[in-house]
Amino acid sequence: MSSMRSAVIAGIILVACTPFLAVTSAPIRLPLAPLDVDEDVLPPLDKDHRVNVNNIAKSIRKGNLSAARKLAADAAKQFEDFYELENLYRQRNKGGLGWSTRPGPVALQDGLERQMLIMMRGAPANVLLDQEHNLEAAYAFLAMAELTIVMAPKKNMGRKTIALWNSQSQALRDSANELRQAFAVNDARGVKQAATKMNDACARCHDVFRD
Ligand code: HEC
Repeated sequence: MSSMRSAVIAGIILVACTPFLAVTSAPIRLPLAPLDVDEDVLPPLDKDHRVNVNNIAKSIRKGNLSAARKLAADAAKQFEDFYELENLYRQRNKGGLGWSTRPGPVALQDGLERQMLIMMRGAPANVLLDQEHNLEAAYAFLAMAELTIVMAPKKNMGRKTIALWNSQSQALRDSANELRQAFAVNDARGVKQAATKMNDACARCHDVFRD
């Protein structure tokens, strides 16, 4: 009886301490209110874009969204153009982030965009087992979404409207969040759905903004 009680209490503590995972009802959105405004924990800016994106991802993962956004605003200023940000979706050996911070076994597949396309066709069982690195990659997508939002165009140009940019950046953020949740519970169908949604967001923005 007492072990059941402590299990229940442990469950309550777990739920209370897992702000992101507790939010499961659709539509899934990251909380907009700052969860933790501790500027001291802001990681320093690095010269390497990849280090900054990974630090933004880590701050989001810790639930420190305000630090993540502050860092994203600062890191965004270091990009000479938007292409430099987008290049980070490529494979690790092409200057991209790679799938998580640990180099993967197959160089050709070791990239955020590559894996997203693979997951759209169905999340491979062996890949799902590597939960820690999948989660890291999902948080990297979330960090990329924050940077994309910060780097929105300043004015409308024909079909290239700020509103469209923002809606597709937010669709990227929402789908990345769904991907994170699907990885967190090893839900293969959820991963496939989230990857498909994410690819939609990429494509809808590219259709209009990529020349
Ligand atoms: C809100 C707009 C937007 C979203 C969302 C977006 N992109 Fe892009 N992307 C661009 C623009 C604009 C360019 C062209 C940059 C340039 O060449 O100056 C680009 C270029 C790229 C490139 C460079 C190579 C190429 O083919 O031109 C890659 C790779 C890329 N995006 C991947 C992605 C992936 C993967 C996603 C989704 C996970 C994504 N992008 C989401 C706007 C977006």
